[in-house]
Amino acid sequence: MSKKEAREQIEQLREEIRDHNYRYYVLDEPAISDAEYDRMFRQLEELEAQFPDLVTADSPTQRVGAPPREELGTVTHRVPMLSLQSVYSEEEMRHFVETVIAEAGEDVTFVAEPKYDGLAVSLTYEDGSLTVAATRGDGTTGEDITDNVRTIRAVPLKLMSGEGTPLPEVVEVRGEIYIPLAAFRELNRRREARGEPAFANPRNAAAGSVRQLDSNITASRPLNIYAYGVGAVSGYEFSSEGEVLEMLTRWGFRVDERNALCRGAAECLDFYRRLAEQREQLPYEIDGVVFKVNELAMQGQMGTRTRSPRWAVAYKFPAYRETTRINDIIVSVGRMGALTPVALLEPVEIGGATVQRASLHNQDEIDRKDIRIGDAVIIERAGDVIPYVVKAISEQRTGDERKFRIPDACPVCGTEVLRAEDEPVVHCPNIDCPAQLQGRIAHFASRRAMDIEGLGEKIVAQLVESGLVEHLPDIYDLTVQQLASLERMAQKSAQNLLDALEASKQTTLARFLYSLSIVHVGEYVARLLADHFGTLPAVEQASCDELVAVEGIGPQIAESVLNFFGEERNRQIVGDLIDRGIEIEQQEITADALVGRTFVFTGTLDSFTREQATEQVERRGGRVTSSVSSRTDYVIIGEEPGSKYQQAQELGVTTIAEEEFRELLGNS
Ligand code: IVH
Repeated sequence: MSKKEAREQIEQLREEIRDHNYRYYVLDEPAISDAEYDRMFRQLEELEAQFPDLVTADSPTQRVGAPPREELGTVTHRVPMLSLQSVYSEEEMRHFVETVIAEAGEDVTFVAEPKYDGLAVSLTYEDGSLTVAATRGDGTTGEDITDNVRTIRAVPLKLMSGEGTPLPEVVEVRGEIYIPLAAFRELNRRREARGEPAFANPRNAAAGSVRQLDSNITASRPLNIYAYGVGAVSGYEFSSEGEVLEMLTRWGFRVDERNALCRGAAECLDFYRRLAEQREQLPYEIDGVVFKVNELAMQGQMGTRTRSPRWAVAYKFPAYRETTRINDIIVSVGRMGALTPVALLEPVEIGGATVQRASLHNQDEIDRKDIRIGDAVIIERAGDVIPYVVKAISEQRTGDERKFRIPDACPVCGTEVLRAEDEPVVHCPNIDCPAQLQGRIAHFASRRAMDIEGLGEKIVAQLVESGLVEHLPDIYDLTVQQLASLERMAQKSAQNLLDALEASKQTTLARFLYSLSIVHVGEYVARLLADHFGTLPAVEQASCDELVAVEGIGPQIAESVLNFFGEERNRQIVGDLIDRGIEIEQQEITADALVGRTFVFTGTLDSFTREQATEQVERRGGRVTSSVSSRTDYVIIGEEPGSKYQQAQELGVTTIAEEEFRELLGNS
C-alpha cells in the first residue's frame, strides 16, 4: 500500500471509529457490535504500526500509554476559571434575579444547569484537537492532567465539525469530571474485596483518579464528564450560553439534557424545586443549580467580582451535612476479617434520614483528620452512600476528648490483628473468628470456591445461629436430621445439601485455597499458588522467598499467605477439613501463568481495546478465543458484559475483572 492510500484509509477509519465512540460514550446508543468495532480498531492499529509517522495524538488509538510522571506540571488558563457565588434561600435567589432584571430588563433569560459535585476542568483544543487538560487550581493556574484526561472516553480527542459547526483555532472547553454513582459503588466494592481502602465519596474518587501520576490508573477508573461552558475562544463569537451549550453538543461533548432556559424568578425557582425532588434518583451527585445570564452581551455589561461573575449564581441544595458529636468509637469486624472503626454518633437527621453511625474507614483516616472520641464533627450523607465524618470541629474541644487507637487484638475473638506494611486496613487473621464465621462459610461454599449447592447465606446464618456449626469444618458433620430441623428445609433438600457437601470434597488446590478467604488471595492468586506449588503442604510450608519468586506474587500477598498459615488455629482448621475427607486433585506445575491459557473477553474494557488486550495475552503465550467453553481458563469481564459472563458462570470458568486482568498482565 502506498503512503497516500494508507493515509486515506487511516483517516477514514478514524472518522468511523470516532463516530462509534461518540455513539457509545456520549449518546449511549451504540450502532455496531463490539466485534465490528474491534475489527476496525485493529485495522487502524495495524496501519498505524506499518506507517508510524502517520500516528497523530488525536487518533482513537492514542488514549493510553503515557509513561508515569514524577509530578504534574502547571497550566495557566487563558481565561481564568471563576468560582460562583452561592445562595441558599428563595429570598436570596429572588434577589439575584431581580438585580439582574433591574440592570438588563425584563427580557433577560437564565440558563439553569445542575451543579455537579465533581471536579472542574478546562480542556484546550487547538485546531480541533485536544492539546491540554487542566484542573481549576487557584483559578489562574491549574495542574496539567492531559495524559489522564485523554483516557476518559467521553472526552473527544478531536472535535466534530461540519456545516454550522465551525472549529475555532483555540477553544477552552469547561466542564465537570465526575464518577456516576452506580460505578462508584462498584469501584468501592472491588476495592474492598481486594482489601483496599474505599473512597469516601464520588467526588474524592474522581479527584484522586484525575490527579494520578500514572494515566493507566486513571484509565481503569469509571470517569465521565459533562461540558457546561467555554473559556477563551478565538475566531468565533458566541452570543448566548444556550448557543455555547448547543455548540458543545455538536462538537461531541456530553451536555446535560436537564439544562433549561428560564425567564423570571418563578421559573428559576420552579426549576430548582423540580431538580431538588429528583436529586436522590439522579445517577450522579449534584449539590445545587447554577443559573447563568443567557445573553453574553449582558454578562459583559454586568462584569465580574474578584473571583466570581455578577451574572451567575449557584443556588445550593440544603447540604446533606450536619454537625453532631461522636459518643464513642467501636470496631466492627467484617465478614472477611477487616477491622473498621465506626463512630457512634449523637443521632442527627440529615436530609430526611436519621444517622447514628458513620464509618471512619481506618486508623490512617482517623489520624489524618485527627478525630477524637467526644469531638463535635461534621457528618455528610451523600445520596445513599454510607455517611462519613468530614472533619472534627477542633475549636469546640473542651479537653475531655480522647484519642482512639485501633486495638492490637480482634475485639471479637482476641486474636492479634495483622497490619501489612503500606496498608491502612488491619485484619483479624483467625479463620475461626465468630464475627467472620458466617461470611467465611458462605464464601467457602460459594460456587467459585467449594461449590456447595444449597449452602447459601440464609442457611449458613441459621446453622451458625442455632449453634449447629461453631467452626467451619463442622459443616461436614451435619446430619439429615439436623438439617431438616432448619426453617424451610424439607427432608429432600436436606438430603440434597448433604450430597452437595459430600461432592464438594473432591476439589482442586486452587479452589481450596480460594475458599479459605485468605486476604489478597482471590481466584487468580489461588490459581497462581496452585500452579506453582502443586500441593497443599508445599503452599503451607512455602517461605517468603519462595512465595515472591512466583510470577505475580508480590510481598503483600506473600505476607498475607505466611500470616495465614502461620496462625496455629488456621492450620488446625485446614487439617480438620482434610480429616473430614477433602481430597485435592494432584496438579501439574506450570512455569508461566499465561502460557497455554485460553482467554475470552466480554464487555468493554476501560484501558484496552480488544486488540490491545489480545496482543498482551498473546505476547505472553496465551490464546484468545471468541466463545466460552469448559476449556476456557479465564473470562475477562468488562463494562456491560454480554451472555458470555453467564456462560462462564454456568461452566464454572474463572471470571476476572479488568483490574485483576491488568495485574495478571503486569505480573507475567
Ligand atoms: S459554571 C463562571 N456550571 O462549580 C462560571 N460550574 O463555583 C463558572 N460547577 O468549580 C462555573 N457544575 O466545578 C458551572 N453547571 C455548572 C457547574 C459548575 C458544577 C462547579 C465548577 C466550579 C464551581 C464554581
